[in-house]
Amino acid sequence: MTLLSEQLTGRLAGRRVIVVGGSTGIGRGIADAWAGAGAEVVVCSRRRPSDAPHLHWERIDLTEPDHARERLAELGAGQVDAACFSSVHYGTKRAAFGEVPEEEWQAQLDVNVTGLWRTLHALMPSLRKARPGLFLGVSSEVAFNAGPGRSGYAASKAAAKALLDSVAQEIAQEKDQEKDREDEVRIVQVLPAGMVDTPGIRRRRPEGFDYSSYMKPSSFGRLAVELAATAGDGHHGDSLVVDGDGTWRSAYEAAPVSQSRTPA
Ligand SMILES: NC(=O)c1ccc[n+]([C@@H]2O[C@H](COP(=O)([O-])OP(=O)(O)OC[C@H]3O[C@@H](n4cnc5c(N)ncnc54)[C@H](OP(=O)(O)O)[C@@H]3O)[C@@H](O)[C@H]2O)c1
Repeated sequence: MTLLSEQLTGRLAGRRVIVVGGSTGIGRGIADAWAGAGAEVVVCSRRRPSDAPHLHWERIDLTEPDHARERLAELGAGQVDAACFSSVHYGTKRAAFGEVPEEEWQAQLDVNVTGLWRTLHALMPSLRKARPGLFLGVSSEVAFNAGPGRSGYAASKAAAKALLDSVAQEIAQEKDQEKDREDEVRIVQVLPAGMVDTPGIRRRRPEGFDYSSYMKPSSFGRLAVELAATAGDGHHGDSLVVDGDGTWRSAYEAAPVSQSRTPA
């Protein structure tokens, strides 16, 4: 579990939060950090997170529409102060467009886009009740840059970004029209400045690959706790680029660096 500084311990006491795709990788880093800060954390994924007595687990497979809809609706019927969506279908390997079968494209859309849509749709009413609730989307530089050999992943991550940006703009517009309206939900996206060492990435790398330059999922912990504690105050609609040391900046201050194009 992520070791948090004393300042963060207990900051989320009394909060109930959900991490879809929190069994491994970046989602797990965020789930561990939220639990370490005192929240009750429910992780949703196909497989039970390992070594995780501090996390509740709900089996949800986003590629099974009826089951996913039903489970998410049940979770959304209770208190939800913050939710994170980190599930991803990467595909088997980087490959040219013509070599990718339609099933892979479909799975990328099912998990990365429709899974996000369903999660947001199911949890939005309870997040609104939290006044304000936080929805945290895990994004990627590829949503800004596109990338050779990753057309399906890039297209689905760009669609996911556009979905969250659009809903964030709707919320901002509602607030502009009704000045006294309290903030109900804030939407923030986070993305790594570089590659992150996660099981999903390891499945696509050769044996003996050197991960020493890769970030760790725990790098997201400090920002995730800060955002959940403040319900994303001051960051609604933003995409925050997180570095290996846990510091962050807006993606709109300087474009995130491509992880697939060769630098000129
Ligand atoms: N790692 C990087 O370098 C990197 C870089 C940029 C952006 N990102 C973004 O970071 C996020 C997380 O990626 P990661 O590398 O941490 O991936 P990961 O380790 O593979 O974790 C992916 C998560 O998605 C869940 N998942 C996969 N298929 C699912 C399904 N059908 N239904 C429900 N849950 C499902 C997995 O759980 P189960 O397998 O148990 O279902 C797991 O919890 C993604 O949005 C990715 O685009 C990662």
